[in-house]
Amino acid sequence: MNPLIIANWKMNPVTLKEAERLFGTVKKEIEEVEGVEVVVCPPFAYLPKIISLAGDLAIGAQNCFYQEKGAYTGEVSPLMLKDLGCQYIIVGHSERRKYFQETDEGVNNKLKIVLKNLLKPILCIGEEARDAFNSSGRPVNEMSLVVGEQLAKDLNGISASRVVEITIAYEPIWAIGTGLPCLSDDAMKAVLFIRKTLTNLYNRSVAERVRILYGGSVTSQNVIDYVKGINMNGVLVGAASLNASEFAKIVKRAI
Ligand code: PGA
Repeated sequence: MNPLIIANWKMNPVTLKEAERLFGTVKKEIEEVEGVEVVVCPPFAYLPKIISLAGDLAIGAQNCFYQEKGAYTGEVSPLMLKDLGCQYIIVGHSERRKYFQETDEGVNNKLKIVLKNLLKPILCIGEEARDAFNSSGRPVNEMSLVVGEQLAKDLNGISASRVVEITIAYEPIWAIGTGLPCLSDDAMKAVLFIRKTLTNLYNRSVAERVRILYGGSVTSQNVIDYVKGINMNGVLVGAASLNASEFAKIVKRAI
């Protein structure tokens, strides 16, 4: 399976011109690269333009609503995104959970509607604190507590045949945008835990087929640790994806 490298531009850049320039440079730099799958996720407002420039590059959205249409002011339907030519949709990013109070139930509904419409969901999960302590001051394994609960709730009611279409991005919140990436050993523990949880929720073959990415302060310096060092299926890149040459380096080093 080729590694999957996802660029999440978040709410950047602030003009269409800059977005076109960034996308154009990224595209040029990675055009000839083979053996890797790249998905660029620009803000909604730029999707039609970027998709018209995309050629073979896959485009994703950063979010969608869990209904197909209707009186939901300000929301974007997965049908609209599909019609535009989006292939992937990020669901449950920690910034959506934090700033927009997205719950696991909402994330679950979004996953279902995305799958129903044959789009490819990228489910983001991850714990908030690096070192958490219980009330008596003892360290608790925050990762397994949070990730285990998120997986059980977010995937509730999704069949084994559909869950394999979901890509899971393990994104510890403390590593996002902080310049403090997760140690590859800890990312490895998270991957093993996610596969074990998927085995319990479904079965081993499902657990082995689901793609698992790492996200959180990924750079061209550390991408190899995740993709080669511990065999993750790819990375989800935030800040570094706004620098075309840095992102292109990440893509090339992942092969
Ligand atoms: P970062 O963001 O690469 O800037 O840490 C990752 C993410 O939020 O997906």
